[in-house]
Amino acid sequence: MYNLTDRSVVLGVTGSIAVYKAVDLASKLTQAGALVDVVMTREAAEFVRPITFQSVTGRRACWDMWDTGSDVPELHVALARRADILVVAPATATVIARLALGLAEEMVSLTALATRAPALVCPAMDPQMYEHPATQGHVETLRSRGVLLVGPEEGRLASGHRGRGRLSEVDTIMGAVRYVLGRTGDLAGKTVVVSAGGTQEPIDPVRYLGNHSSGKMGFALAEAARDRGARTVLVTAPVALADPYGVETVRVRRAAEMRDAVAAACGDAHALIMAAAVADYQPAEAAGQKIKREKLEGLTLSLVRTPDILAEAGRRPGLVRVGFAAESDELLANARHKLEAKGLDLIVANDITAPDAGFAVDTNRVTLLDREGGVEELPLMTKYEAAWRILDRVAERMTK
Ligand code: CTP
Repeated sequence: MYNLTDRSVVLGVTGSIAVYKAVDLASKLTQAGALVDVVMTREAAEFVRPITFQSVTGRRACWDMWDTGSDVPELHVALARRADILVVAPATATVIARLALGLAEEMVSLTALATRAPALVCPAMDPQMYEHPATQGHVETLRSRGVLLVGPEEGRLASGHRGRGRLSEVDTIMGAVRYVLGRTGDLAGKTVVVSAGGTQEPIDPVRYLGNHSSGKMGFALAEAARDRGARTVLVTAPVALADPYGVETVRVRRAAEMRDAVAAACGDAHALIMAAAVADYQPAEAAGQKIKREKLEGLTLSLVRTPDILAEAGRRPGLVRVGFAAESDELLANARHKLEAKGLDLIVANDITAPDAGFAVDTNRVTLLDREGGVEELPLMTKYEAAWRILDRVAERMTK
């Protein structure tokens, strides 16, 4: 169902200290439903033994080209043909050179040469090695062949030095795998705009009017849209979540800024999903300086309405508009009222008083109401799963 379910991922692991992160990657890919076959270099197996990978993937990990114990003759060819994607993580300078030159010297480069699956390479090495013209030349060669390079990132390295050479975070690599596998999904060629988080309306330079939105539902929607092939724009109010890989993320703060960013992104979009908790009011004037404690006593804030972003996005033909109704009472009646008042195609109603749904948690229990009067009550599920179900409905409407 999801874009990693039963997909064949060949994970090439090479000899960098970052190998331990590849174990986590193999585990997360497996948990997400992928069939993960690990091929390793001998050097990688010096850091982490194949049995570790076998234990988390439930499949044989192979490092020895000369291993005759496999029941599959020419294992690298079998893996290469079966692969939906080849991920090399961590990729050392040596293996990057081999991939660029087409040298099949061990299981990883051998499998890479034999496969026609899309390849994703995640370098990890000392910054001086990465910056070396030899490595940069090989990286360029790989890029020009359509290989997707993820990282390396800036930061502290095992050597104690700082610089650009760290393996990307496992979540980033997972996002990149999902992005690549999603390119042929049912939303390919479509643009989906999603808003997330709770806007902050400044009172003075340190205080603001805000709300409890964590942004998780909106981020899950953006990731799911990406995973189905959409070009995805995520307009988010401040949240403690990293930019999802392959999603054009625009960070805003106030409702007025969100309105401008959403309007700009919606120009050629096919769907707008407003998961953000937008403040309905903002202070009429934000103080230029921090309001001193003495002045706060008895302070009255004068509030003015913020723009209604969904209503302003207009009923343009071809733009599917989806709203969220977070309610604490009269859930369905309030949601239906909002759907009609804002002329939406679909509204996602959720009861914020339920303990396993609503703000900050990873699960949600939502009901989908459409403009034709349809009501679909979904059971408790993860926000990513709920996002997928919402997008099923959006996809249907895009083709109407
Ligand atoms: N919304 C918006 N612009 C606003 C306020 C809300 O686009 N200024 C969007 C939200 O992102 C959500 C939907 O409208 O998708 C409903 O938001 P909500 O705050 O529940 O609705 P309101 O119309 O503000 O109603 P109320 O706060 O009275 O419940």
